[in-house]
Amino acid sequence: MNYSEKVMDHFTNPRNVGEIPDADGIGEVGNAKCGDIMKIYLKIDGNVITDVKFKTFGCGAAVATSSMATEMIKGKTIDDALGLTNKAVMEALDGLPPVKIHCSVLAEEAIKSALADYYKRQGVDPEPIVGQLPPCEHCSK
Ligand code: FES
Repeated sequence: MNYSEKVMDHFTNPRNVGEIPDADGIGEVGNAKCGDIMKIYLKIDGNVITDVKFKTFGCGAAVATSSMATEMIKGKTIDDALGLTNKAVMEALDGLPPVKIHCSVLAEEAIKSALADYYKRQGVDPEPIVGQLPPCEHCSK
């Protein structure tokens, strides 16, 4: 399979791996297609995402897209993060092989889920802001 240099770079040297113990929002999503899991931690100050970390039990393409996605939202506003699409992340990585496109949705969904968690913790209903998230099979036994 042919991966771009940027994908290989982010896969072999992923940015922002880890967790944030005192995170303001945590999102966890599972990929319905392959069963892989992504967890994203956000630190938010006012309207700005001051720090972001991720952990994944996912494939190389999931690692690369998450690494790139975290770089793209770090230091940005919540609105910017909500507007981030898996398409924009893939473009920033110079593309993914078609069979790997489903892997890139994990990062976008995990970020949205972490923002929803952030709003819930503030006592705000996240749905009008973040939209409806796919149900997490993992949590709804
Ligand atoms: Fe599961 Fe890529 S194969 S995220």
